[in-house]
Amino acid sequence: MADSSHGFSTRAIHAGQPPDAASGATVIPISVSSTFTQAAPGDHKGYEYARSGNPTRKALEECLAAIEGGERGLAFASGLAATTAVFQALLKPGDEVVAAADLYGGTFRLLDKVFKPWGLVTHYTDDASAAGFAKLVTPKTKMVWIETPTNPLLQILDIAAIAAVAKKAGAVLAVDNTFASPYLQQPLKLGADIVVHSTTKYLGGHSDAIGGAVVGANDLLAPVKFFQNAAGAVPGPFDSYLTLRGIKTLAVRMDRHSTNAAELADWLTKQPQVAKVYYPGLKDHPGRDVAAKQMKTFGGMISLQLHGGAAAARRFLTRTHLFSLAESLGGVESLVNHPATMTHASIPKAVREARGVDDGLIRLSVGIEDVADLRADLQHALG
Ligand SMILES: Cc1ncc(COP(=O)(O)O)c(C=O)c1O
Repeated sequence: MADSSHGFSTRAIHAGQPPDAASGATVIPISVSSTFTQAAPGDHKGYEYARSGNPTRKALEECLAAIEGGERGLAFASGLAATTAVFQALLKPGDEVVAAADLYGGTFRLLDKVFKPWGLVTHYTDDASAAGFAKLVTPKTKMVWIETPTNPLLQILDIAAIAAVAKKAGAVLAVDNTFASPYLQQPLKLGADIVVHSTTKYLGGHSDAIGGAVVGANDLLAPVKFFQNAAGAVPGPFDSYLTLRGIKTLAVRMDRHSTNAAELADWLTKQPQVAKVYYPGLKDHPGRDVAAKQMKTFGGMISLQLHGGAAAARRFLTRTHLFSLAESLGGVESLVNHPATMTHASIPKAVREARGVDDGLIRLSVGIEDVADLRADLQHALG
């Protein structure tokens, strides 16, 4: 139906989704059955029990693989379920992970509170250059874990350069591609081994379904596939359908997220109340050149600091109307977030502040509303 010769949007709309063989339905049916009838023991049509496989989820998994340019996609019940599957299926107690210090608070909590007691050792680098990662690699390093752009400071990490470090160390490079989405950036093409997503964000795109994904080569993902069924954190058919539906419009949404965010980031730099703007598309962003090389556009996320620190941030956060004060990101509607008390509250205050995520930091997920309305909303909140 769609293959690797097709463009991104063609794959996003068609991959894994031929017309339904039974009815001709053009849109993939939401297949709710938890079990599948067999003609004789072992004689079935590819499905036995819906934790192991479900037709709607299979369509999503094929589509995820096609849009990330990987052999296999696996869908999970959440982004953190996908992350858990990668760590637990591919690593063992005593192994070491090198991760960038700036990363999603829930991933830090998972590594610190679940996998550290299990025996996994994670080293965090403040220097997110390839050399920074190389310094922390030891013979026990089995995985390098990065986000780019990072959450919440929007640092840009050079995927190809870090992939070279991981390869030399004999380690797997896993990239959480949630902030960029596969439309803007395809890490597997840049040398990464595994891509992870919170599909809750841009892929679903409408803030109405929690989900996660892992994409990579068949051989590497075989233990993750086994773990998916053995541990069972799979998405239900309706969430799989919503995610597939969201993916169809990913390209047009990302274009608009990016142009809106670029315009607002530039405008914010000119406001006297604003002390600092973090956006990879700004000329003075240290990662701009790498971002221009590895991303199609600079994405829809902006972070900022106001003069007046935490008190000014608190005032701003309660004065927006269109930007809802809410966790999450990547939906069509704009959101404003206070990382210190929301998305990154699970990182101890001292660690968080040492990493630059203090009580004054504000994160915006710029939606696809009319940019003039969004600008007016920010203007009011600053005023
Ligand atoms: C970059 C990143 N990765 C992973 C996750 C976890 O995803 P989920 O909330 O779907 O478990 C999040 C959630 O905010 C995130 O921002």
